[in-house]
Formats: sequence, C-alpha cells, structure tokens
Amino acid sequence: MEHRTIKNLLLLAGFIGMIVFSSCYNDNYATLYPTGACDTTNVTFTASVMPVISANCTGCHSGSAPAGNLSLTNYNDVVASLNSGRLMGSIRHDPGYSAMPKGGNKLSNCDIAKITNWINQGFPDN
Ligand code: HEC
Repeated sequence: MEHRTIKNLLLLAGFIGMIVFSSCYNDNYATLYPTGACDTTNVTFTASVMPVISANCTGCHSGSAPAGNLSLTNYNDVVASLNSGRLMGSIRHDPGYSAMPKGGNKLSNCDIAKITNWINQGFPDN
C-alpha cells in the first residue's frame, strides 16, 4: 500500500515535470529569457538556423567526405537530416542519438529553441 502511494506520487511528479518542461519549451520561453535575449518568434532559416549550423556543424558536415556521410551546408541538406529523424535528437543530446556537435559544447538553449520553433512553423525556406 505504502509502496503504491509512493509510486503514484512519483508518477504524478513525472507528469507535472513533463507539463512544466514542455510549456517552457513551447510557450513560456520569453518569460525565461528577458526581452531581446533570445528572440525565438521571428525565426527564419537564413537568419536564425543556418548561422547556428554554419558556426557549429559544417566544419565537419561539409565537403567531399562529410562526417558521418552527412552534409549540412544548405536548406536541402538540413531538411533531409531533419526528415531522417536524427537531427534534433543529436542536437538535444537525447538518449539513442549521437550527441552533436561531436566533442564540443551542446548548443545554447536559445539556439535549440530557435531551431525548434523553425521546425514547428513547418521549416520554411526563408
Ligand atoms: C567535430 C566534428 C563534428 C561536428 C562539429 C559535428 N558533427 Fe555531427 N557527426 C560527426 C561524426 C563523425 C558523425 C558520425 C558518427 C557519429 O554519429 O557519431 C556525426 C553524425 C551526425 C548525425 C547523425 C547522428 C545519428 O545519431 O545518427 C547528425 C544528425 C549530426 N552529426 C548532426 C550534427 C549537427 C546538427 C552538428 C552541429 C550542431 C554537428 N553534427 C556537428 C562529426 C561532427
């Protein structure tokens, strides 16, 4: 009986955690970061996404023999990687994915949020 209650409490805590976490990501980002610190509203591929990829990824993922045989030098490359289902797991360091940038620091929450918002908007080529 005691055991069950603790289990249920843990489950509940997990749920609340999930809700809080996902709402941070989707809605309340602006409240976590003061105005101007991280603009995730006006994200475009050219101004928001590609600069992050160029600064952190194309050093390895470009050229005639890109790392992992994965090129990330333009819109089509990035969308192909997105569609393969490997891109965001790697960037977020999710379990089961190869953490990227390999051997480097994880992208900032702001950069990850920008890319996530761009994807949520249907990853327009703009
Ligand atoms: C220092 C070189 C290096 C950098 C920088 C780098 N990568 Fe990689 N990446 C690799 C190598 C090597 C592989 C293939 C081996 C592996 O998966 O670890 C790879 C694999 C991947 C994969 C496939 C992973 C999987 O789990 O299937 C993705 C997606 C990826 N990289 C995206 C990125 C992104 C996005 C960035 C920038 C944020 C980045 N990489 C930066 C070297 C790099």
